[in-house]
Formats: sequence, C-alpha cells, structure tokens
Amino acid sequence: MGDPYRLVERLPTLEEYTRICVDVGWGDIVNFDAARTSLPASRCAFVAELGDDAVGMGRVVGDGAIYFYVQDVAVLHAHQGRGLGGRILGALVDWVGRNAPEQAFVGLFAAVGTEGFYRRFGFEAHTGMTGMFQVTPRPR
Ligand SMILES: CC(C)(COP(=O)(O)OP(=O)(O)OC[C@H]1O[C@@H](n2cnc3c(N)ncnc32)[C@H](O)[C@@H]1OP(=O)(O)O)[C@@H](O)C(=O)NCCC(=O)NCCS
Repeated sequence: MGDPYRLVERLPTLEEYTRICVDVGWGDIVNFDAARTSLPASRCAFVAELGDDAVGMGRVVGDGAIYFYVQDVAVLHAHQGRGLGGRILGALVDWVGRNAPEQAFVGLFAAVGTEGFYRRFGFEAHTGMTGMFQVTPRPR
C-alpha cells in the first residue's frame, strides 16, 4: 500500500493548530488568541495530511534574514512513530537551506527526550551556550 500521508506546504488553520497542540499536551501553554496573528507571520509551514485531516505540522518563524526558529513541530499521538515528524522537520530544514542566507542562525527548543530527533537534522546543543527563555505572565 502506498503512503497515505501527504506533506503540504501551507499554514495549519487555527482549528487544526489548536487540535494538534491540545493533542500533544500544549493546550494550557499556547495562547490560541495570539496564534491567530502568529500563524500568518510564519516564514513557512508544513502540514501532514491524511485525507482531509491535518495530523501533523511544523513551521519556521523569524526575521527571514539572520534568525530562523523551528517551532511547533508536532504530530497527533495516533500518527506518531510513522516518520511524519522527520518528514516535517526535513521539509523545514530544506526550506531554510533554500531561503536563508549564509551564516543564518537556525534555532529551536527541543523538548526533553527529543534531542536525538533534532540531532539527525543537524541541530546540536552547544557548549558555552544555553538556550533560555521566559514566558510573559497571564493577567490575574
Ligand atoms: C517529536 C515528534 C514531532 C516526532 O514525530 P514522529 O512522527 O513520532 O517522529 P518520526 O516517526 O518521524 O520519528 C523520527 C525518529 O525520531 C525518533 N523520535 C520520535 N519522537 C521522539 C522522541 N520524543 N524522543 C526521541 N526520539 C524520538 C523516532 O524514534 C524516530 O527514530 P527511528 O526513525 O529510528 O524510528 C512527536 O513525537 C510529537 O509530536 N511529540 C509531541 C510534541 C513535541 O514534543 N514536539 C517537539 C517539540 S520540541
């Protein structure tokens, strides 16, 4: 049987984005109101489709010149372990290779346990550099 999945270069809709985020446990982390503005500001995005359903996604954000960040790589639980995450990440890395100038910085945050997944695509933790972040508070 052929590959039932299709990888399409497009943004996830807000509904697709929300469904995938909730499925992988990001439901309480992501500000879905802000996602309305964030998604169209992406530099590129890919969606893995099965029939009419979006089952995986990933995108690149950044200034489009020097700084690029891989963001929101996620596959619905029911479809994990079938190579989709790798296909999505590979497509994003290819896109950066075709569109970023030399010496561009391509960053991401790897969830604990996913470091090996990203290493295969050329990402490394660098000694002497620690990725750090903060999250703006919610209003009380
Ligand atoms: C991480 C994620 C996108 C991988 O998607 P996937 O479709 O299951 O990945 P693939 O099937 O392409 O797997 C690629 C390889 O990475 C490995 N891998 C996948 N998920 C992994 C994980 N969480 N930890 C370590 N290795 C992982 C697989 O074992 C596979 O190796 P193999 O080819 O030797 O079997 C998916 O597990 C996911 O959505 N997780 C929840 C969201 C998340 O944590 N995203 C990363 C944000 S930093």
